[in-house]
Amino acid sequence: MIREAILYLITPKTPLAKKYGFLYESIGLQARFERVKKHWLPHLKNCQDVFLESLQDLPQKKSVVILGSAHLHEIPLHLLVENFEQITLVDVIHPWRHHWLAKRNPRLKLVTQDLSMILENLENLKNLDELRAYLKKISDKELFYFKADLIVSSNILSQLALLPMSAVEKKIKKNLELSEKDEISTVVTEMHLKNLKNCEGKKLIYCDRKVIYKDPQGEIIYEGFYPVSFAGFKKVKEWMWLLAPLKEASNKYSIEMKVEAYEA
Ligand SMILES: C[S@@+](CC[C@H](N)C(=O)[O-])C[C@H]1O[C@@H](n2cnc3c(N)ncnc32)[C@H](O)[C@@H]1O
Repeated sequence: MIREAILYLITPKTPLAKKYGFLYESIGLQARFERVKKHWLPHLKNCQDVFLESLQDLPQKKSVVILGSAHLHEIPLHLLVENFEQITLVDVIHPWRHHWLAKRNPRLKLVTQDLSMILENLENLKNLDELRAYLKKISDKELFYFKADLIVSSNILSQLALLPMSAVEKKIKKNLELSEKDEISTVVTEMHLKNLKNCEGKKLIYCDRKVIYKDPQGEIIYEGFYPVSFAGFKKVKEWMWLLAPLKEASNKYSIEMKVEAYEA
């Protein structure tokens, strides 16, 4: 707890990252990683395998960009350093350790950016229709652009719509319907994919595409999935990830994810 409190104080953060709980989430993610690392190992190996395979046909390995870099649990920094000259990490919040390393190593650059372009306006959106209208308004805008030998969308896709949806739920003081959540998630995800496609360089995506809750007997009690078109990307691998074993998130269920990896 003391360590977490110190990290909360010393980690550089934008007002938006603080206001919307990204710093808190980031510190919580690291703590969860330390608790359940052994259950995550197969997932982490799969992430690293798809990353290493994606390097095979690169004409050169000067630069890499990681979108949603967080703590780099999935593609560790040493693998990036071994394979690329210039490393750019993009996230709305970076852990203190990455700030410390970037100050000492010119090969590492941190970009603090909202890749969805929604956060700045979140406060003005009073209901679902206003969120829909705002998404329509920015649908033709460039949300982000990067140029590198490899650009990795690193398990960020499903995260992008979560905060905007819960902000709207708070405003309207009720939960969105499942169909409404699916609709928003699909739109936000496809906007990310469109912008990623417009970046210059090889692209690798890995992302959770289905969530499965199982009871203590291993029976499925809930499955969640929303449609996304990955047109223009080729699926290279899929695997299951035990995100939260029984007793991590609840005594009543474990949480698994189906993860898919794509290239373009
Ligand atoms: C599941 S984590 C990614 C895990 C990471 N790839 C790793 O290896 O540890 C998702 C990350 O997406 C970031 N994120 C969520 N919404 C974002 C946004 N709108 N813009 C930029 N980053 C965002 C979060 O801060 C978080 O670090």
